[in-house]
Amino acid sequence: MADSHAKMTQATPQEIIISVLAGLFAPLVAIILIIMLIISIQDKHKPDTSSEAAQKATLERIKPVATLDALDANAPKVEKSGQQVFEAVCTTCHTPGALGAPKFGNKSDWGPRIGQGYETLVKHALEGIRQMPPRGGASDLSDVEVERAVAYMADAAGAKFKAPEAAAPAAAAAAPAAGAAAGAEAGASAGAAPKADPAKGKAVFEGTCVACHGTGVAGAPKVGDKAAWGPRVSQGYATLYDHALHGIRAMPAKGGNASLSEADIANAVGYLMTQGGGKL
Ligand code: HEC
Ligand code: HEC
Repeated sequence: MADSHAKMTQATPQEIIISVLAGLFAPLVAIILIIMLIISIQDKHKPDTSSEAAQKATLERIKPVATLDALDANAPKVEKSGQQVFEAVCTTCHTPGALGAPKFGNKSDWGPRIGQGYETLVKHALEGIRQMPPRGGASDLSDVEVERAVAYMADAAGAKFKAPEAAAPAAAAAAPAAGAAAGAEAGASAGAAPKADPAKGKAVFEGTCVACHGTGVAGAPKVGDKAAWGPRVSQGYATLYDHALHGIRAMPAKGGNASLSEADIANAVGYLMTQGGGKL
């Protein structure tokens, strides 16, 4: 100990200066080389499609959160009536008949379309068909709002569809009234709550619902929190399914992920319900 201590203190001033300079310059040279490398990489870098795709993927991933921001700004969301939706969105094309849209109130434009049945019209309005964009281009409209706008327009041209109230089954109830002409397509999206498979719902939950139900964002009942889910579970599966599909207060329709099918929503609700101590 004493020896080495003595040696260290015996270092000449030159030795000290050299070791200090070496200690400073070695990292400095390394940093300069790294900066030069980065600059040369940036020079070569051109925006490519893969980074665009990556950006899209990112947007897709943060969608539920982005939806939440929008909700925070003007919560609580009140579902618009068919007339309000029409006047805010659909009128742009359906009043002048732009792009070949069936004109509002025009029976000969709407007759053959109404003949397809309410369910089919709703499906085309939700998903888009030819020049008709999905949800009339207003992706923030809920299913119920679009359903109401379809009923509003069709009824103005002579149909007798019943616009859905907050409860979903109204759409299904209106379908038979529209006649059997709707065919197989309509049958596929018919109304009552589909059977839930909680095992499949786990993946849907992890893909979408976890954004809020994982930690309890915006007052969402946390997955597996029996105290939070108890009173909700007691509303029954059909009601919970309806609320998940169409949204309720700060809970966005389909959890903000419009690409989920009704079966996905049913399975995810089943998963959340059973995790929350409920039985299907
Ligand atoms: C950008 C213009 C545009 C807007 C906005 C728009 N539509 Fe359309 N819509 C069309 C066109 C064009 C068609 C005709 C599509 C076809 O059959 O080729 C159409 C057709 C329809 C049909 C008939 C589909 C069928 O199967 O025959 C329904 C129902 C409909 N629109 C509902 C709506 C609703 C509800 C809204 C508002 C939420 C809306 N549209 C907003 C352009 C628009
Ligand atoms: C953006 C946040 C958010 C996302 C994403 C989300 N939820 Fe919710 N959810 C909420 C909030 C907030 C509530 C509580 C609403 C209330 O009762 O005020 C809620 C409540 C619920 C309820 C209970 C409704 C009731 O009647 O008590 C169900 C069921 C539900 N969500 C299902 C889902 C499903 C299924 C998904 C995924 C497909 C999902 N949620 C995704 C925020 C979200």
